[in-house]
Amino acid sequence: MKPGYSLMKHYLQFKDLRAEEYAYLFDRAHIIKTRFKNYERYQPLADRTLAMIFEKASTRTRVSFEAGMYQMGGSVVHLTTGDSQLGRAEPIDDSARVISRMVDLVMIRTYEQTKLEAFPAHSRVPVINGLTNEFHPCQILADIFTFIEHRGDIKGKVVAWVGDGNNMANTWLQAAEILGFTVHVSTPGGYEVDPKVAGISSTDCYKVFADPLEACRGADLVTTDVWTSMGYEAENETRLKAFADWCVDAEMMAAARPDALFMHCLPAHRGEEVSAEVIDGPQSVVWDEAENRMHVQKALMEYLLLGRIGG
Ligand code: CP
Ligand code: NVA
Repeated sequence: MKPGYSLMKHYLQFKDLRAEEYAYLFDRAHIIKTRFKNYERYQPLADRTLAMIFEKASTRTRVSFEAGMYQMGGSVVHLTTGDSQLGRAEPIDDSARVISRMVDLVMIRTYEQTKLEAFPAHSRVPVINGLTNEFHPCQILADIFTFIEHRGDIKGKVVAWVGDGNNMANTWLQAAEILGFTVHVSTPGGYEVDPKVAGISSTDCYKVFADPLEACRGADLVTTDVWTSMGYEAENETRLKAFADWCVDAEMMAAARPDALFMHCLPAHRGEEVSAEVIDGPQSVVWDEAENRMHVQKALMEYLLLGRIGG
């Protein structure tokens, strides 16, 4: 058994790993990314298979996990609700028992977190959250790695969250609690974050602002997300009205620190949650953020399957 790897780990929420494990993963992601950029072959996951189960649409999550797994020497099985027995009500417990006898790792994108959590209970292999209604840990892993690349340690910094109190917002709060930064949260009334849903132990890691401009004041990073997440499409019309003042624009970026970054997990709707001027402007790092999904997830898959490399 490799040092530092005793029990099987799952990655279902950001808080499933500790600060020192994140420090390790960010170092590893940097090494793995540098090798990739230098065209150096690195295939520690030869003969390993990742099953990816999608109950919602995806571009980045699918491409980043699939390309990343192939680059590491492994292979991928792609399942959707529509083309597997999952869509015909085979129990999750049974699916978990069967799929995990044939693959080494499972990534799931689904609706309720409880649905995701039913899988590891009967899985022989690690399970990764590829997005649920409540959390999107792989995205925040990439976002913080991107922040570190551009600005160094995120500890003590201020992240402004402008928009929906959704899966991304919840995951930012977990990350703030673990890594020691503060989130300034501004959402329309009725769309607030709920610390219980976010799974944080106290409210010390965030401050609430009624005015999104005030949330951005002095921030090191301003970030937002779609007004209507997948699964909430029926609320679209209501949300368009409720969120009208929560568009990250040049005025909000000007209230942030002069060196503030802008992030968005994508896909984005220019003219809704962010102006084209901001997302396509000089402070935006959204393309690095998207690319980094692949590098951090390669580090994560390596860690879950092989433990710490190099002692
Ligand atoms: N950010 C993100 O998860 O994108 P996809 O929905 O395209 O996977
Ligand atoms: N909050 C968005 C993120 C998409 C990557 C959603 O859940 O649809």
